Amino acid sequence: MKIIMLGAPGAGKGTQAKQIAAKYQIPHISTGDIFRANIKNGTELGMKAKSYMDAGGLVPDDVTIGMLLDRISEPDSKNGYVLDGFPRTIPQAESLTKALAERGENIDYAIDVDVPDEAIVSRMSGRRACVSCGATYHIVYNPTKKEGICDACGQTLILRDDDKPETVQKRLSVYHEQTQPLIDYYSKEGKLVTVDGTQDLNDVFRDIVKVLGE
Ligand code: AP5
Ligand code: MG
Repeated sequence: MKIIMLGAPGAGKGTQAKQIAAKYQIPHISTGDIFRANIKNGTELGMKAKSYMDAGGLVPDDVTIGMLLDRISEPDSKNGYVLDGFPRTIPQAESLTKALAERGENIDYAIDVDVPDEAIVSRMSGRRACVSCGATYHIVYNPTKKEGICDACGQTLILRDDDKPETVQKRLSVYHEQTQPLIDYYSKEGKLVTVDGTQDLNDVFRDIVKVLGE
């Protein structure tokens, strides 16, 4: 099963993608997580990505597309994957469609986790993220068992640099300009599924499972 998660920053793409990956036994591939891991490890890719990310902009397509296409060529991606944060521009979507078509493959679903902008800003300030394993929590809506420590891997959680309110506003406007057109793109391809992302996170997942099957 090949799935794309669409939705604004903070809509809950990562939260849902983790659960989808666990239930359907497919890798969760988050371009944001890959960039953050590279920044943490001080790689050349990380250095390229950091300034764009900190400013709330997008990392250029020429960096991002090759990285993602390499990642989905790895052996663990053979039976599918859930892409979280890619594609984010029309050229990225077109590159993915083309690369898959060359292998006789196609995306199964593009799931849009729909949340209005007003709800996003308050969610972001309460988010805590694990840079080691990519898990995401919320101090109110999805707390860890032990404050500040990742339930999954025991590492210390961080508040992401790009979760400051003014950067979140910038990310939202970049989303509306560059990423929202993908909703139309996947709708025309007949792949779009929209779920109400303002619900409790377990209810969002229940709606996704209704579409993907038990
Ligand atoms: P990325 O890491 O993908 O960030 P994003 O799209 O801005 O999305 P987020 O991770 O912020 O939100 P999310 O939808 O995953 O929400 P989450 O589940 O955490 O990208 C970061 C940056 O990297 C980009 O700005 C860009 O610079 C660069 N980048 C990445 N991919 C790129 C690409 N393809 N091209 C170019 N540049 C790229 O949930 C948010 C919070 O809400 C959490 O605290 C969570 O616990 C809580 N929550 C989740 N669901 C619910 C719910 N139903 N109710 C209440 N709270 C909830
Ligand atoms: Mg995320």
